[in-house]
Amino acid sequence: MAFKIGLLGLGTVGAGTAEILLSPENRHPLLQELEIYRVGVRDISRSRSLQLPQNVLTTDLESIVTDPEIDIVVELIGGLEPARSLILKAIANGKHVVTANKAVIARYGSEIFDAANEKGIYVMLEAAVGGGIPVIQTLKQSLGQNRIQTVTGIVNGTTNYILTRMQTEGADFAEVLADAQKLGFAEADPTADVDGLDAADKIAILASLAFGGRIKLEDVYCEGIGQVSAADIDYADKLGFVIKLLAIARDNTSDGDRTGGESEQLSIRVHPTLVPKTHPLANVNGVYNAILVEGEPIGQLMLYGRGAGAGPTASAVVSDIMNIAAILKTETIPIPHPLLSCTHQHYCKIAPIEELVTRFYARFLTRDTPGVIGMLGTCFGDRKVSLESVVQTGIHGELAEIVVVTHDVREGNFQQAIDEIRQMESIDKVASILRVL
Ligand code: HSE
Repeated sequence: MAFKIGLLGLGTVGAGTAEILLSPENRHPLLQELEIYRVGVRDISRSRSLQLPQNVLTTDLESIVTDPEIDIVVELIGGLEPARSLILKAIANGKHVVTANKAVIARYGSEIFDAANEKGIYVMLEAAVGGGIPVIQTLKQSLGQNRIQTVTGIVNGTTNYILTRMQTEGADFAEVLADAQKLGFAEADPTADVDGLDAADKIAILASLAFGGRIKLEDVYCEGIGQVSAADIDYADKLGFVIKLLAIARDNTSDGDRTGGESEQLSIRVHPTLVPKTHPLANVNGVYNAILVEGEPIGQLMLYGRGAGAGPTASAVVSDIMNIAAILKTETIPIPHPLLSCTHQHYCKIAPIEELVTRFYARFLTRDTPGVIGMLGTCFGDRKVSLESVVQTGIHGELAEIVVVTHDVREGNFQQAIDEIRQMESIDKVASILRVL
């Protein structure tokens, strides 16, 4: 029996997927039962190195999702539309769907999974987060027996590449970004990556799986890396940290009273973070991704690998196709597989960022006059912000540079103190504020 695949998109990941499907030798035998039946592209006349079967190419993507012969639609065109509509149409036509589209799943997951459940269809998304890292399957199938406490990820390769180069070269953000774009490591429009939006989509998906509920994307707090300066990276280094863009989802109820908001459950956030050099995520560099899962009774588990690129992402896509094919091959009664289908409908409660309890790093430029450090200390103390360290390292012209690291503090209290500090006459500038893991 051959399972017929309709591929939407033949870009980097689409071509990588076709390449695996066209060369099944020395891979799992199930691959020999997968047939590329139709491939939807924008331009048929474009020259391609792939040896695709004759007449599979079409520019009519709708004809693929409605084709009665096709069993599995693989959506690799990216973007919101027409991807969302094509996925929904494929489901309505009884096709199982594999997608790498984190943006669509993070925004329209409820609509898509409700439609899929109603039709008894699988929608699989291993390639949407972490490229070749099998984190979706791990959360869905391997860790469900655990109570997950946190999922902490470096899930965006572009920003990790930029931060790693800033770290090793002492260069500033804009300079490294421009070079990364020239070298093809960053998109021409890098907004989704550098502003943390791509990572926000991904942590929303991971949190949904880890904590068994739907996540509204607007509840995910998100800051990008644009504000991280070479000076911050240098101070962080001296204090024993590296700066990483972390995507963090945490069950606040799992360790008692870390947050003030008892009725809220999760906190989900993306922001540049000072990570202790001894932490397992501190040495994840360049374009690599890693996801650290902490749960009970598993303890710590870290998955590490390539988060993008044709081969790794295609590997994830084909694993989903194989999972669906395996079910179609063995199931006589089409009951949704409880570990592969979406089984939750409720939305998780997300704590507002003000309730977060974390450590902070802050850098101030101040007048070099007596009592400035004292005033900072008093202002923080009045807001119950306890300081772990205060360092005055340099003079910039007339101004002194002061760096503080706090103990764990409620974010709302810290921000109130910062608002007051901004008003102080002796403070020239709050140059940066970063959270510390
Ligand atoms: N733009 C993503 C990244 C790759 O830089 O990690 C695909 O998710």
